[in-house]
Amino acid sequence: MQNNIKQFDYIVLGSGIGGLTFALNVAPSGRVAIITKKDRAESNTNYAQGGIAAVTSKEDSVEMHVRDTLTAGAGLCKESVVRTIVQEGPARIAELIDLGMKFSEREVSGANGIRELDLGKEGGHSKRRILHAKDVTGREIEKALLAAAAAQPNIEIFENHLAIDFITTQKLGQAGPNRCVGAYVLHKKTGAVETFSANAVLLATGGCGKVYLYTTNPDIATGDGVAMAYRAGAAVANMEFIQFHPTCLYHPKAKSFLISEAVRGEGGVLKTVEGVEFMDKYHPLKSLAPRDIVARAIDSEMKRSGAACVLLDITHKPAQFVIDRFPNIYQTCLRFGIDITKEPIPVVPAAHYQCGGVLTNVDGETDIAGLYAVGEVACTGLHGANRLASNSLLEALVCAHRAAQKVLGQPPEPVQLTIPVWQSGNAANPDEQVVISHNWDEIRRLMWDYVGIVRTNKRLQRARARIANLQEEIQEYYWDFIVTSDLLELRNIAVVAELIVASALQRPESRGLNFNLDYPNPDPAWAQRDTVLRKS
Ligand code: SIN
Repeated sequence: MQNNIKQFDYIVLGSGIGGLTFALNVAPSGRVAIITKKDRAESNTNYAQGGIAAVTSKEDSVEMHVRDTLTAGAGLCKESVVRTIVQEGPARIAELIDLGMKFSEREVSGANGIRELDLGKEGGHSKRRILHAKDVTGREIEKALLAAAAAQPNIEIFENHLAIDFITTQKLGQAGPNRCVGAYVLHKKTGAVETFSANAVLLATGGCGKVYLYTTNPDIATGDGVAMAYRAGAAVANMEFIQFHPTCLYHPKAKSFLISEAVRGEGGVLKTVEGVEFMDKYHPLKSLAPRDIVARAIDSEMKRSGAACVLLDITHKPAQFVIDRFPNIYQTCLRFGIDITKEPIPVVPAAHYQCGGVLTNVDGETDIAGLYAVGEVACTGLHGANRLASNSLLEALVCAHRAAQKVLGQPPEPVQLTIPVWQSGNAANPDEQVVISHNWDEIRRLMWDYVGIVRTNKRLQRARARIANLQEEIQEYYWDFIVTSDLLELRNIAVVAELIVASALQRPESRGLNFNLDYPNPDPAWAQRDTVLRKS
């Protein structure tokens, strides 16, 4: 045992559905450190309202779910990955239920008290197949998984710990293929940088919504995983495909509050501020069209009319149904003075989900030995150019289970290296916090203005030049001062911004979520082509 090094068998970065599922599966065979930058329940999973898409009803089939996923993905999904994930979903859901997860149920009509899963519907799904716990599905899943993790003595959770960078054999100057052997991690409360080592490291840190000014994501979503993996030399793919959720609550005091697509699934209708329905102009499925189409339609209606938002109207449904089905949305809107049973909800699109990420196979393997990635941080090929609603929790669940089986079946060689502890050198305490806050704001605004729902080459080039300048300044600051979590997150969102812009510039076509006015159509030569970036 080396001094001052925290040695484990497995390190898991992130405490959402992917990280916890992996940890629970590998814990019987070794000690697991779960590293999470806030408290353990604060993950993207925790905020998922809609639910998990999976085939559980007789009216549905794997084939139909596969077809809906491929259609939403606009030609870029990897069909074999889609099939594996969709096929394995029901078994993983059954395990989640065994663990204590309670999905909403309803009475089977005319069956005298017999109950079945209450399946929801969302955009792009041809069948009702979304398992949910009212409108707080993620919170309930998180609760069930955390309770199971608490009962597992081999799992230790490090809260308020923010990973800085991976420790790899390449960085340590070793010859041969690159291998991940651990991570340097900032203890946010003490300011100390701790060294963790393990034979296998799982990245499950979620996405990067905070790279945009407006997002449905919580503050933690700063793209840390993608940025770390890229700096370590891993391939990162399809980062141009950022999904904008069509319906984020528009209210001056509401921060990032999502109005679930399930509201439209239950009959909610999009209207202009004048109360006119408009989605029939854009797609036969109207308000339940795939998300990329709905978000662009709203963007276009807002630009055409100059209005600051559009409206989502569910007032035609019985008030008690709305209150029972969407208690969280109902109560939250009410706190902002909006009674959704009586008046339409003002909504705007906002950055919601990163469809690209660290390139992996369906078992979560990256191209760095010993480093696995699952969930939003990873790009398996399930989502293609546009994610089908509620496929993300499914992907995280299935791929985390597969990654665990992979690691257990082919355990990586034990790490035999001397790992150096973190060196702060001559770094001083930061004296100009304003540099950090200014650069945060600048990146998020320029990404919103230049790299949003509708893009052009000129705007992308402008964004690239600005981000390069900001990165130089951030890098200088990084070397000169002692690291803080704000600085580390800023450094990460700058990398993610660079990757989104570089990927969007690489793709000379409009496909799914990447809509570029300079190439308004898909180019068949780019169907099935990923944009892959690797640090040179
Ligand atoms: C929602 O509830 O609308 C979000 C579901 C998702 O993004 O998959």
